[in-house]
Amino acid sequence: MKTTRRIVAAMLSVLMLGAAFTGCGNEPAAPTTNDPSSAPVENNPTPDNGGDKETDDGKLKVGFAQIGQESGWRDAETASIQFYAGQNVDTIDFKFADAQAKQENQIKAIKSFIDMDVDVIGLAPVVETGWDAVFTEAKDAGIPIVLVDRMADVPEDLYATFIGSDFIEEGKNAADEMAKLLGNKGKIVQLEGTVGASAANDRKKGFEDQMAAEYPDIEIIASQTGDFTRAKGKEVMESFLKTYGADIKGVYGHNDDMVLGAIEAIKEAGLKPGTDVVTVSCDGVKGIFEAMVAGEANVTVECNPLLGPIFFETCQKLKDGEAVEKWVKSEEGIYRQDTAAEDIKTRVY
Ligand code: AHR
Repeated sequence: MKTTRRIVAAMLSVLMLGAAFTGCGNEPAAPTTNDPSSAPVENNPTPDNGGDKETDDGKLKVGFAQIGQESGWRDAETASIQFYAGQNVDTIDFKFADAQAKQENQIKAIKSFIDMDVDVIGLAPVVETGWDAVFTEAKDAGIPIVLVDRMADVPEDLYATFIGSDFIEEGKNAADEMAKLLGNKGKIVQLEGTVGASAANDRKKGFEDQMAAEYPDIEIIASQTGDFTRAKGKEVMESFLKTYGADIKGVYGHNDDMVLGAIEAIKEAGLKPGTDVVTVSCDGVKGIFEAMVAGEANVTVECNPLLGPIFFETCQKLKDGEAVEKWVKSEEGIYRQDTAAEDIKTRVY
């Protein structure tokens, strides 16, 4: 099921993004995110030279340690990165590792990228803390680290740049949207992302701070992790509904996938999602647009996963010794039920 969703997401992104990358003659690389190990895989058929280090063929050598496949958003990000690498095999030598949601696997992957002497290492850190030692190893080897979509809690000199969203702002925007939907009052529940992830920490902080500051009559009666997955989102919502029933007037999810799971739970409990229980979530995946069109979801605060082009452009700049900004911020919108039928036509993930 998850594999099917992944392939569909990857294919869709490949098809939709194709137009954006005209002029590249190569076929995109086959998606590799279902690789069960964290061992890096290559984007091109050129074999290794037999040793740990590779010969210098002038290509940009990049290793990327992805978190895993927990959500449709993550699949879209992976597809965007792999597509770009696949379109540029003549100039980019790309290694990809799927860490299966484990920090230890991401650390292993970074160490093997260091052994391969890549030019740049990209990482979407599964959690914020625990990176100092391995980042220091990369720094000592002269290899810059590019943080993609999630931050790491490390001193600034241990990474070159962060490419991604302002998660605190997303949480704040989500709070404003929830308040509008509820007329500034009511009881709500929160589905948090992976414990310790910057996307979860900051979306929670932005939301809760804004609620406390501006909307005192909205009460967050329960908050628990759903690990950014649809299945866990459903499970946690079921238990919230068992405890609080129809008192729950809104659900805020740190991502769309968890809210899509929650919608199933709300329906199974005999309530109407989008009406009895309003929803606000982050990401902007196709599934939440479909739910909005069906009247079962209300708002999504967009988070852009299509980071492949900017990621590789940044890597090239770092290889060439050019300056890069410390935070390359994504531009994102807010999408609501009333325009979803129109908006869905142009969504690419
Ligand atoms: O880091 C971005 C978050 O991670 C996305 O919101 C979520 O869907 C993903 O898994």
